[in-house]
Amino acid sequence: MKTQVGIIGAGPAGLILAHWLKQHGIHAVILEHRSREYVEGRVRAGLLEQNTVDILRSLGLAERLEREGYTHHGVYLSFDGMRIRVPFGELTGGRNITIYGQQEVIKDLTGAWLEAGQELYFETAATDIQDFATDQPKIYFENEQEGKGVIHCDFVAACDGFHGIGRQVLPKDSYREYTISYPFGWLGILANVAPSTDELIYAYHERGFALHSLRSESVSRLYIQVDEQEDLENWSDDRIWEELAIRLGTDGWQLQSGPIFEKGITPMRSYMIDNMQSGRLFLAGDAAHIVPPTGGKGMNLAIADVKHLVDGLVDFYRNNSLDGLDRYSSTALHRIWRAQDFSNFMTQLFHKQSEHGSFKYRLQKARFDYIRLSENYATTLAENYVGLPFEAFG
Ligand code: FAD
Ligand code: DHB
Repeated sequence: MKTQVGIIGAGPAGLILAHWLKQHGIHAVILEHRSREYVEGRVRAGLLEQNTVDILRSLGLAERLEREGYTHHGVYLSFDGMRIRVPFGELTGGRNITIYGQQEVIKDLTGAWLEAGQELYFETAATDIQDFATDQPKIYFENEQEGKGVIHCDFVAACDGFHGIGRQVLPKDSYREYTISYPFGWLGILANVAPSTDELIYAYHERGFALHSLRSESVSRLYIQVDEQEDLENWSDDRIWEELAIRLGTDGWQLQSGPIFEKGITPMRSYMIDNMQSGRLFLAGDAAHIVPPTGGKGMNLAIADVKHLVDGLVDFYRNNSLDGLDRYSSTALHRIWRAQDFSNFMTQLFHKQSEHGSFKYRLQKARFDYIRLSENYATTLAENYVGLPFEAFG
């Protein structure tokens, strides 16, 4: 098999890359280890930054998103039961976020790609990437039914997530690795109940963090901080709703509960490598970085990487120049470090990390109070939350 860009992984990064390259007349083939049903059913993020929505629109892939997504112009932040609103639309000159499930994005992108007759091979795992120091890299793959094969390409884009093969084959001496593990995780639910809020609520409570998000007029998405090693078995539906009501509670407001149809625990970590390229191999998205989910940056960051990679690839095919591609890693890393800092900031601000009333708690509260008092500080939060425009990084 032959293509110009061989893409490993049909997550947000791989699919957007493929569509964007196609728009520029560049041929791509996608390999995806899992089945279509599995990938389309995988419940993950739901917060789309302004940049992400703009990209999907410019690719002609936002039709359902525009119909079914929810645009939010602000966010509620709550601390010890005191709730404030940060009007990020006002503070950022009209930038905002859209709530639309990651698996819906995946369904839209996969459907459009296959309907256009393009190549995407499910249940096909990349097993090795070779010769990426030359101009003839190869991706070796294995499919249970059809056996083994190889893709000859000009470039390899490893959009294969945190456990993918891209980072494993990246020469160990070409990057430094940075990591923080948090001693807690998120228990996330989807429930058949109308959201009890019009905008998201992030809450610090002495029992731990809680987040109220949503998916539609009849489906709510909520999360609570649990211990890192927590067992889902310990959390009956009643216990989850009781805990959410306590942690999100504020005067004169009530949380509506309903049947839970999806439950899972996500570990939390910050992870980075400081180089995302070796020769003609490029890493994008979770393959190169993980942020803790507080603030909803993961998927958006994956898509922002792709923008820089597309810029470089288009430059190559138009001008026969590798300059843009050689700048890919350093360009993408500016935004990634910004998002690492913001995700860590939001995590530290809203999670219970030590005794309620401790020095650490006092610092968290001082930060919250400062957001409440200072429009400048609230603006800092808002511009990071909606995502800085690409031009901001020069
Ligand atoms: P992925 O979406 O991980 O896609 C990578 C794809 O590559 C996968 O489909 C995988 O099957 C495939 N693959 C892997 N190895 C191979 C191989 N060898 N060959 C072929 N294919 C391969 N972010 C938020 O902002 N908010 C959240 O609430 C949130 N919740 C999350 C919950 C979970 C359980 C996880 C794992 C992540 C969550 N994230 C969240 C992060 C967000 O979903 C990711 O940042 C986003 O999916 C990254 O997209 P990606 O395309 O880089 O990687
Ligand atoms: C969602 C997830 C997040 O991590 C976040 O900060 C906001 C919203 C969500 O799944 O809707």
